[in-house]
Amino acid sequence: MKRFILMLLFGSLLLASCKGRQEGTTVGLVLPTEWKDISGEYINAHGGGILSYEGKYYWFGEHRPDKGFVTEVGVNCYSSENLCDWKYEGVALSVSSEPGSEIEKGCIMERPKVVYNAKTGKFVMWFHLELKGQGYAAARAGVAISDTPTGPYRFLHSGRVNPGIYPENMTQEEREAKLDTAQYQKWWTPEWRKAVECGLFVHRDLAGGQMSRDMTLYVDDDGKAYHIYSSEENLTLQIAELTDDYQKHSGRYIRLFPGGHNEAPAIFKREGVYWMICSGCTGWAPNEARLFSAPSIWGPWKQHPTPFVGEGADRTFGGQSTYVLALPGNRLLFMGDLWKPESLMYSGYLWLPISFGEEGLPIISGPRS
Ligand code: DGJ
Repeated sequence: MKRFILMLLFGSLLLASCKGRQEGTTVGLVLPTEWKDISGEYINAHGGGILSYEGKYYWFGEHRPDKGFVTEVGVNCYSSENLCDWKYEGVALSVSSEPGSEIEKGCIMERPKVVYNAKTGKFVMWFHLELKGQGYAAARAGVAISDTPTGPYRFLHSGRVNPGIYPENMTQEEREAKLDTAQYQKWWTPEWRKAVECGLFVHRDLAGGQMSRDMTLYVDDDGKAYHIYSSEENLTLQIAELTDDYQKHSGRYIRLFPGGHNEAPAIFKREGVYWMICSGCTGWAPNEARLFSAPSIWGPWKQHPTPFVGEGADRTFGGQSTYVLALPGNRLLFMGDLWKPESLMYSGYLWLPISFGEEGLPIISGPRS
């Protein structure tokens, strides 16, 4: 009952600022069937996140084509003052027409996130980058910067994470283990699992850097920023600290849940506890979300049951996490994607309020509950 009242309160606060809009385009309790910007165009900003800056929200997301899945345009940006009426601000980061460019048209740009760096005055975008023609093999993180929130962003560099450096929480024994992927060709055997836990892919990728696919960014209260990403063939999450300008990795990083097969990380903090919502790895198909918490970004992280409750919770109501937006009044908004692989452009969005139960665990109720 308490949860229901909290949800109603949260919903009415959001709905109140969305007067005059049809029910299906408001964020909150109703699952939208169609999301349009203020000029009536379908919002094309998938796997995205929101930057809150000087009283405005900036939503960055993947521009996806109607057919196919490679990036033909880049990262889109929309702005809003009420999270409901979205103005299209254009392409924040454009693909390049230059052959051989790391961001050449036909590459794959996914899960862009933008943060503001108060020290440099720059807006910094990180995104998952796959090189043109290489499928998902490159597994890089890309970085671009801008002097204004909407861009255009200037591409700086891309690469794997922290080449030559071991994760802080790898033991000496694990660092010294002689693990060769050639000996573990067959996945999911008990021996393979043990080797993955021990850092099979960390070793394989040590010289060139750790893989980085689904990702998010988190800026902590002390201004330190972190890159959180699916690594080690999507089998293990990693959290890497960024340099003070947020443009590179500092070299400090840890592994989380080796072999856990988590992706789509979305992180937030409440009353000193760090929470992370992830999905499992089933491509575009929905699966049951995972929930983790820790007293520090550096852990120890522990797993809880899925925060989603109600009919369809075991498939995250058809969605996959991408971001959690902290709103004034200690409110938290879960943002997810409802992927439509047959036309990724028209993939939907799943935005739901997060409440907290009596045990202090996050609860996300279904769009129709
Ligand atoms: C699931 C990931 O979460 C998405 O970002 C995307 O990479 C798809 N896999 C591609 O199959």
